[in-house]
Amino acid sequence: MLIELLRERRSIRKFEDRPVEREKLDLLIEAALRAPSSMGRAPWRFVAVTERETIEQLATAKPHGAAFLKGAPLVIAVCADPQEVDVWVEDASIAALVLHLEAHDLGLGSCWVQTRLRDHDERQTAAEYVAAVLGLAAGLTVEAMVGIGYAAEAKPGHPASSLSYDKVFFEQYGRQRDAGA
Ligand SMILES: Cc1cc2nc3c(=O)[nH]c(=O)nc-3n(C[C@H](O)[C@H](O)[C@H](O)COP(=O)(O)O)c2cc1C
Repeated sequence: MLIELLRERRSIRKFEDRPVEREKLDLLIEAALRAPSSMGRAPWRFVAVTERETIEQLATAKPHGAAFLKGAPLVIAVCADPQEVDVWVEDASIAALVLHLEAHDLGLGSCWVQTRLRDHDERQTAAEYVAAVLGLAAGLTVEAMVGIGYAAEAKPGHPASSLSYDKVFFEQYGRQRDAGA
């Protein structure tokens, strides 16, 4: 059940020095291509990277939060053409989440690297930098990257007691669930 996967799921940033098998990569790609998108317009492009040199360049996409990619055997850049759909951010985010969940289901760990709205340095955005590293076609941008591999760290799922039920309301904002409902 999906809820079981969600109860276990964590972001994994440490990976074994072991490649992701071709069959698993194929399933990850299939999963991403099955992601829902607004009007079914699928504005995404995915770039799956396994070459070490390129991954090391992606790991410097931004000053904070990308360095762990260096140890990932697989990085999938989730790109999109903003001209194709106005809600491309939502579409790309959903595809990135599908990759994250499918990775877990395949026994792999993964973690999102925010690329949109982040800077590489004072002259270039992270998206511009990654676009140059990957040779993206004009008009495409990178929304996020997902680092994927066999986990070399164990993290427990978040306990039920940590869930923010105080942010959930019923019928009207601010209203708690009626006793017995
Ligand atoms: C939109 C988004 C952006 C994120 N950006 C990064 C990032 O740039 N680098 C990183 O290491 N983790 C990133 N994460 C992972 C979060 O830090 C992580 O999901 C959060 O700390 C909760 O931990 P958990 O996924 O293990 O439950 C991102 C997650 C999301 C959903």
